[in-house]
Amino acid sequence: MPDWHRVAEEADLKPETPLGVRVGDTQIALVRLEDGIYAVSDVCTHEYALLSEGFCEDGRLECPLHQACFDIRTGKALTEPAEVDLATYPVKVEDGAVFVRV
Ligand code: FES
Repeated sequence: MPDWHRVAEEADLKPETPLGVRVGDTQIALVRLEDGIYAVSDVCTHEYALLSEGFCEDGRLECPLHQACFDIRTGKALTEPAEVDLATYPVKVEDGAVFVRV
């Protein structure tokens, strides 16, 4: 059963600056966009690279290894070499704390 996990403080999330967090073995990249905070898998679907170490602009997250781009809101793989979409996770903020449902 998915459950809510406290993973960060809202104040730690700067606009379009990914933050890597973990829930057990699940690695998640949190990103604050102008319309909210989003959570996607932190691990690229092409090979092994952490997207939280990549570049974020205009709602897209770019892998630092081969520069595939993903839509942060939907997880959709937008450019090659990635062909598989990222997992996405529901996010909620309560009293300044960020929770992800995993
Ligand atoms: S590992 Fe991310 S594009 Fe290759």
